[in-house]
Amino acid sequence: MEYRYEAEPRSYEDYASGRVLLNAQGTTAFPVRLASEIYQQGKAYLANKGRTSGYTLYDPCCGGAHLLTSIGIRHGGDLKRVVGSDVDQRVLDIAARNLAMVNPDGMQTRIVQLQELVQAYGKSSHQEAVESAERLLALVEQRNRTVDVQCCIYDAIGQPSSSAVLDELNGQVDFVFTDVPYGDIVQWSADSADPIGRLLGNLMPRLAPVSVVAIVADKKQSVDHLAFRRLKKLKVGKRQIVFLELNK
Ligand SMILES: C[S@@+](CC[C@H](N)C(=O)[O-])C[C@H]1O[C@@H](n2cnc3c(N)ncnc32)[C@H](O)[C@@H]1O
Repeated sequence: MEYRYEAEPRSYEDYASGRVLLNAQGTTAFPVRLASEIYQQGKAYLANKGRTSGYTLYDPCCGGAHLLTSIGIRHGGDLKRVVGSDVDQRVLDIAARNLAMVNPDGMQTRIVQLQELVQAYGKSSHQEAVESAERLLALVEQRNRTVDVQCCIYDAIGQPSSSAVLDELNGQVDFVFTDVPYGDIVQWSADSADPIGRLLGNLMPRLAPVSVVAIVADKKQSVDHLAFRRLKKLKVGKRQIVFLELNK
């Protein structure tokens, strides 16, 4: 895949899972450079259709929300709302704590926690994390307004059910960006012949008329649904990245 927006090599270590952003056990953190590239390619599609900012971004398999949080920190100026959901209650506490860092109050709280660790243990890794968090704080403070962040439990491939958080999103989601289960570390919660088809079907009522869906999966999984049109497909190592929109 050609990097169009994150073409210049740079360090993303401030976003490393377990440094400032917390690591949710049993989930995989998504590469920050790739996340930012995919986000910007999706944004270019929305901008081309006249939707330039104020996006609602949703990840229906959010895990510890490392992906959403890195996008929220780097691209929060475009975003009105960031929402994650996951079927596993155990990861949602971490997701909430990570998502809080999209805004200055949450990042300041994290800096205080990290400073307490420096005081208690005097480790250089904690001091480096404080320095990373201070750089990230400067980034989130630049935008001068907060992003609404929320997360909740929801089965993305189950029978549709009501959810106070997600039902409020109906017709409002501009951008779905998700890294679905694959590989040995994370699996779908239930057997399904076509989990991504089910995911797409469940997403339909949430989507705004102009919206884009970016799904990252391994190459074995089919990314297809009759109600969606494929915009493009990229390949990066073992992953496929498929961009889709609703058929009109
Ligand atoms: C690859 S991980 C996502 C990691 C996330 N992108 C991050 O950066 O932290 C995939 C997630 O899908 C979740 N998952 C599995 N089955 C699901 C389902 N039926 N509905 C919603 N989430 C599900 C897993 O619990 C796991 O957290």
